[in-house]
Amino acid sequence: MMEEPKKTNCRNLKLLLLLLFCFIHFHISASSLSSTTSSPSFPSGALPTKSGYLTVNRTTNSAIFYTFYEAQNSSSSLSQTPLLIWLQGGPGCSSMIGNFFELGPWRVSSNKNKNKSEHHVVLEQNPGPWNRIFGVLFLDNPIGTGFSIASTPEEIPRDQFSVAKHLFTAITSFIELDPVFKSRPIYITGESYAGKYVPAIGYYILNENTQLKVSQRVNLAGVAIGDGLTDPVTQVVTHAANAYFIGLINERQKNQLEKVQLEAVKLTQTGNWSAATDARNRILDLLENMTGLATLYDYTKKVGYRTDLVTEFLQNTEVKNALGAKESIIFEECSDVVGDALNEDVMKSVKYMVEFLVSKSKVLLYQGQYDLRDGVVQVEAWVKTMKWNGIGKFLNAERNIWKVDGELAGYVQKWESLTNVVVLGAGHILPADQAVHSQAMIEDWVLERGLFSNLQEKKLSPKSSF
Ligand SMILES: *[C@@H]1O[C@H](CO)[C@@H](O)[C@H](O)[C@H]1NC(C)=O
Ligand SMILES: *[C@@H]1O[C@H](CO)[C@@H](O)[C@H](O)[C@H]1NC(C)=O
Ligand SMILES: *[C@@H]1O[C@H](CO)[C@@H](O)[C@H](O)[C@H]1NC(C)=O
Ligand SMILES: *[C@@H]1O[C@H](CO)[C@@H](O)[C@H](O)[C@H]1NC(C)=O
Ligand SMILES: *[C@@H]1O[C@H](CO)[C@@H](O)[C@H](O)[C@H]1NC(C)=O
Repeated sequence: MMEEPKKTNCRNLKLLLLLLFCFIHFHISASSLSSTTSSPSFPSGALPTKSGYLTVNRTTNSAIFYTFYEAQNSSSSLSQTPLLIWLQGGPGCSSMIGNFFELGPWRVSSNKNKNKSEHHVVLEQNPGPWNRIFGVLFLDNPIGTGFSIASTPEEIPRDQFSVAKHLFTAITSFIELDPVFKSRPIYITGESYAGKYVPAIGYYILNENTQLKVSQRVNLAGVAIGDGLTDPVTQVVTHAANAYFIGLINERQKNQLEKVQLEAVKLTQTGNWSAATDARNRILDLLENMTGLATLYDYTKKVGYRTDLVTEFLQNTEVKNALGAKESIIFEECSDVVGDALNEDVMKSVKYMVEFLVSKSKVLLYQGQYDLRDGVVQVEAWVKTMKWNGIGKFLNAERNIWKVDGELAGYVQKWESLTNVVVLGAGHILPADQAVHSQAMIEDWVLERGLFSNLQEKKLSPKSSF
């Protein structure tokens, strides 16, 4: 009860700042329009192949916003070219971060250097876009996030089943937009809180498919999770030891953190979901306070990720119109309303969904070496508790040294349908840090090449565990 009034005050302040911002922004836009002819925000070829809205509720017109980029240079015919779907985390953060900061063909950059008293956000070509040889679809999920529309607040999902239901509607509507999409293998990918969404929609698709005619099924070929929160109760107990062994905290601080970690576990086990979420937030806050780091997303960074540039870019009316986004929506990187709606979902596990997916499909997990939130240690902790008949073989599989163009890129551990990758020199927002390596990873995993091929296991053991 104590939290609420504080929150409201905070919201009011936010609203005030937002109004102030709009006011200033309007003046800047108006003045720049009168003085100069406005430069196009999108360089030629930088606009998505398609973008707009996919309705998820015909009664209320709630809709998921999407941007789609066709493969730049596919070696197969388009009807066979894999289709990747990207989901951002949060909960409530926009996939436009993925699009314009991480793995899309063009990314934001500040050209501040050219004139220090003025700064513009410009788009620059990504050296490692994920749509080089695959189509990539970015979805602002769930409704209420980014440019997506939640016509009524009650429709915003409060659990993973509801998230998956909307995503399924959006994905099937997208496939219907063009006959060339129908037969393409689909890979669901995402990051951070999408460690929940990705398994949820994958699991939902596999279940729906059993009840649908072959022609109506979604052609799911695999799921990939980067720096994901998937089995929170196992992941939440690793932060203290992880930070301690990196050298970021001492033993007394480790003990202090461990006490809160155990509290989070207890609250999770008793199903006190909101208090469990609070306890997890307290752990991360404490760790941030103890270490003084700019961000827990990457302990090597002196300043946090500049995702605010994406927000600045997308609040521009010209940009909104070019993307077919609703002009009246003020773009926010992350929506507090969506975050609040999913508050009680945070500590709930979707591990059983991954166990199902790994037995019916294929699963890629990957983490940036420097991520302290949902990184290497946090993911290994839950993976080793998986119930899957290949898990023993996976845990004993070689952790291979992975190179890209002769350069050490990280480590790949694989057994049959499960692959885990550690990407060196990267934090939580991994493709932003290691664009080319992340591109090599996703391409080799989808196409089953090199360390990502199935030849390794055949060499090691003639009898597979399936
Ligand atoms: C659409 O929204 C209405 C009103 O909130 C709700 O009753 C209904 O269940 C929703 N339908 C779907 C398919 O989400
Ligand atoms: C497209 O693919 C072909 C054949 O793989 C290659 O020779 C060419 O350099 C590629 N072009 C681009 C722009 O990547
Ligand atoms: C930098 O921007 C300021 C403000 O718009 C302008 O007055 C100045 O002439 C610019 N300088 C250069 C070198 O372009
Ligand atoms: C949930 O946990 C909080 C904090 O420990 C406690 O105040 C509250 O009474 C608990 N709620 C229930 C239903 O147990
Ligand atoms: C972290 O520091 C801030 C600022 O000093 C403080 O308000 C907050 O309560 C601290 N968080 C925790 C969990 O101790």
